[in-house]
Amino acid sequence: MKPDESSSYIIGKCADSRVVTTLTADNLSGLNILAEELVSAGLPVIEVLLRTSEALDAISLLARVPGCIVAAGSVLTPQQLAQARSNGASFAVSPGATDALIAAAADCELPLLPGAATASEVMKLGEHGFHFIKFFPAATSGGVPALRALGGPMPQIRFCPTGGIGADNFEQYLCLKNVAAVGGSWLVSGSAFRHRQWAEIGKAARRTARLAKAK
Ligand code: 3PG
Repeated sequence: MKPDESSSYIIGKCADSRVVTTLTADNLSGLNILAEELVSAGLPVIEVLLRTSEALDAISLLARVPGCIVAAGSVLTPQQLAQARSNGASFAVSPGATDALIAAAADCELPLLPGAATASEVMKLGEHGFHFIKFFPAATSGGVPALRALGGPMPQIRFCPTGGIGADNFEQYLCLKNVAAVGGSWLVSGSAFRHRQWAEIGKAARRTARLAKAK
């Protein structure tokens, strides 16, 4: 898919809820219920990080949950891009970008959200035609002030900051004109997740969705 089409497609999927939940799945048990909770809360976009042996099965499982938009995250290689596609991901997310990954994405129907952390990296992705870019790792790369500064020379690029974003600061990111959505694991990394307390997570997700909509 062409980079500009990839960016438009992914913005379209994220623009409504504005929060992408990044999930490390090391156990498939109950994940479909978790996804149903997130969908019904208004946060249907779940990015399963390709960091565990269960990740591809988790993508297949979540792709079958009505209303769930499942992405494959931590995609580093063309092979992972192909695996993400064949397991039913709607799009792929990478922490950075390599020539090999960009070329593979151009030859594949799976839209790619590539990552960047500096002005030069953003410029290179912009040259390829991407206009929606993951800003990663957001907090340690300068956070809100860095994104605001990047918006000066490159107002046409929109970002999905991820990495170090949580309940206490996601709204600050969403206030920025050049932030279309934020990503983070805060809803699914605490004790409620470890104890499979899906309803508890659903409650927090509803609150997050309400706050995100208000920005
Ligand atoms: C990651 O790479 O781990 C994700 O981008 C999520 O980051 P977070 O756990 O800091 O939200």
